[in-house]
Amino acid sequence: MMQSFKAFVLSEQEGTFTPAFQTLTTADLPDGDVTVRVHYSSINYKDMLATQPNNKIIRQYPRIPGIDLAGTVIDSQHPQFKKGDQVIATGYDLGVSHDGGFSEVMRLNGDWLVPLPENLTLEEAMIIGTAGYTAALSVDALEQNGLTHDKGPVLVRGASGGVGTIATMILHTLGYEVIASSDNTDYAATLKKIGASDVIPRISDVTPKALSKTEWQAVVDPVGGPSIEEVLKRIHPSGALALSGNAGGTAFESTVFPFILRGLRLIGIDSVYTPMAYRQHIWQRLATDFKSAHLHTIKQVIAFAELQNGLEAVHQSTHNGRIVIDMQVENPLQND
Ligand SMILES: NC(=O)c1ccc[n+]([C@@H]2O[C@H](COP(=O)([O-])OP(=O)(O)OC[C@H]3O[C@@H](n4cnc5c(N)ncnc54)[C@H](OP(=O)(O)O)[C@@H]3O)[C@@H](O)[C@H]2O)c1
Repeated sequence: MMQSFKAFVLSEQEGTFTPAFQTLTTADLPDGDVTVRVHYSSINYKDMLATQPNNKIIRQYPRIPGIDLAGTVIDSQHPQFKKGDQVIATGYDLGVSHDGGFSEVMRLNGDWLVPLPENLTLEEAMIIGTAGYTAALSVDALEQNGLTHDKGPVLVRGASGGVGTIATMILHTLGYEVIASSDNTDYAATLKKIGASDVIPRISDVTPKALSKTEWQAVVDPVGGPSIEEVLKRIHPSGALALSGNAGGTAFESTVFPFILRGLRLIGIDSVYTPMAYRQHIWQRLATDFKSAHLHTIKQVIAFAELQNGLEAVHQSTHNGRIVIDMQVENPLQND
């Protein structure tokens, strides 16, 4: 008998875009060598974009979105995984060109799975999720590019969002002074609680000067857009900016001066195709030296049935921190 479960499916027929919960069976799932009972997923910026009509993220329908998931293996033909293993999946275009985490059960390529590290629960893995993993990649990249405790503060932009909150926590946990840039004044007290020594408004105006007085040794930047030009002018000599996102726009201009007169490094961060060995190394760090005592402070856990409300909150930018989807219902596999 077929096992049935709930999934959130995007369909598009004759120009009509329909997001809806559907009851599926394992026969509806894509090919793959590992089937996972999804316990938690999360809402990332890309999920919000992917679930809008006329989005430029999803090219083929029907599609189950959700760019990350954490759960338990219920069936495996993959040599490295067996029934009962706890796993995390992010990236590899999950929820984009492959069905993703907004389903109580998902089948996928075992080569994409990271074993849940010790000292991390499945819920914590999705409080972190793709956004937090991206924050971790950003901090790790800055460390590889000369971040040290004696060189002054690190700026985190988009600080009330997913990448920003977790970058703030990681940097504080590692002992760095963090300046959080955010226009979300209601969240300033939380940002201070999780590790920001100061909260400043978004940087949006671009001054005409070629260079400005320097303020930060490095920047975690998930905002992007035209304001990067100004941020680059204020980074200490030999500093770096880890650029991961475009919440504030896609294009920016700059002169060459921050690069040729201050030796600045601009580091691109891609969380989707990180090689597996490095991916596992970053998740180990997220479970150990990157793990903040405040991780649960930034979570907002919602039931799977509330998914569309969570997506709307990200769309309207009225959310804070990380929205975690609790996918557990009493008996998702009705015939299991
Ligand atoms: N490179 C990768 O692999 C990768 C992985 C994950 C995410 N990303 C990207 O990183 C970005 C952030 O993701 P997220 O999950 O942190 O999203 P999020 O939770 O929606 O947070 C984005 C934050 O950016 C700030 N912001 C929004 N609109 C802005 C604007 N017009 N100008 C300046 N700041 C603005 C807001 O923070 P404040 O209100 O505090 O200012 C907002 O909370 C997205 O573009 C996402 O696609 C990239």
